Amino acid sequence: MKAQVGIIGAGPAGLLLAHLLQRAGIECVVLEAQTRQYIEERVRAGVLEQGTVDLLNELGLGERMMRQGLMHYGVELRFGGRGHRIDFADLTGGKGVMIYAQHEVIKDLVAARVNAGGQIVFEARKVGVERLASEKPLIRFERDGAAKEIECDFIAGCDGFHGICREAIPAGVLTTYERNYPFGWLGILAEAPPASHELIYANHERGFALMSMRSPKISRLYLQCKPEEDLDGWPDERIWDELQLRFAALDGFSLTRGPVIQKGVTGMRSFVVEPMQHGRMFLAGDSAHIVPPTGAKGLNLAVADVRVLAAGLQEFYGSGKREMLERYSEICLRRVWKVQRFSWWMTSLLHRFESDGEFDRRRQMAELDYVTSSRAGMTTLAENYVGLPME
Ligand code: FAD
Ligand code: PHB
Repeated sequence: MKAQVGIIGAGPAGLLLAHLLQRAGIECVVLEAQTRQYIEERVRAGVLEQGTVDLLNELGLGERMMRQGLMHYGVELRFGGRGHRIDFADLTGGKGVMIYAQHEVIKDLVAARVNAGGQIVFEARKVGVERLASEKPLIRFERDGAAKEIECDFIAGCDGFHGICREAIPAGVLTTYERNYPFGWLGILAEAPPASHELIYANHERGFALMSMRSPKISRLYLQCKPEEDLDGWPDERIWDELQLRFAALDGFSLTRGPVIQKGVTGMRSFVVEPMQHGRMFLAGDSAHIVPPTGAKGLNLAVADVRVLAAGLQEFYGSGKREMLERYSEICLRRVWKVQRFSWWMTSLLHRFESDGEFDRRRQMAELDYVTSSRAGMTTLAENYVGLPME
């Protein structure tokens, strides 16, 4: 097989890149290790930046999102028993975020590709990349037990944090920057109407908690836990009781409870590799960087990367110029580091760190007080949360 661009991974990065390239008349193949059903049901992110929403609409991919998603123009930060609303629309000139599950975005992107006659090879096994520094890099894989290969002009490594593309880059090329946090998030999806119209990020003595949602009937809730927390110790009632304690407010706030339909623990880390390219392979999304979920940025950053990559490939196939492709890492990393900073800052503002003493705790409360009472403080949170402008 041959393809101009071989894309590894059918997450948000790989699927959106395929769509952008197809629109530009650049032919590509997407290889995915899992089944279609698996990727269309995997519960993950839920918040789309204004720029991501606008892009999906411009591409004609936003119809279901506009019908089923929930546009939010603010969030609440809750601490000391009180809620403080950050008014995004007022602070950012009318911008907001869309609450729309990542797996719904995946369904829309897969449907668009299939309808356009584009190829996605599901259940691709033993995927490997070779000859990255040559003019014709090669992808090898197995499908239904048969060995296959694709000769490409370029490879896009969109295979997430645990993928093979980053690992295939020779030793010494990449520099890794990393921070692990001494906690994780225990997340549930519940058949319970959200207790508030907007997301609530709570900083409590007992640890962080987040109330989000997927629809007017389904809540998505998280609480700070140990990184390797054993779910067996967390029957549903214990989760609800703990969430209730952490969201408790002086006004007698009460969470709406309901059947828990999904449960999981996520670790928290910040991770970046530099550069995000080697020879003719480009890393995009989680394969190149991970952010802790407190800023709701991972999916959005994956989208930002592939916008740059698609533009670079379009320039190359249009005019033969490689300037943008050569600058791919540099352009992406400027945004990556700003988003890393924001995600780290939100994490340190809202979580309980066991190593913190009384001084740190008071400093954290003072920072929350500042951020929720100064217009400058609120603006810095709002403009990052709705998404910084694309370069
Ligand atoms: P992925 O979505 O990981 O996609 C990679 C794909 O590659 C997968 O389908 C995988 O199966 C496939 N793959 C892997 N290895 C191979 C291989 N060898 N061969 C072929 N295919 C392979 N982000 C936000 O923006 N907002 C949020 O609110 C948010 N909340 C989150 C909450 C949780 C609990 C978690 C876990 C994440 C959250 N994120 C959030 C992060 C977000 O989900 C990721 O950043 C996003 O999925 C990255 O997209 P991606 O396409 O780079 O990678
Ligand atoms: C979610 O709805 O899953 C969600 C919302 C906000 C975050 C992280 C996850 O910061």
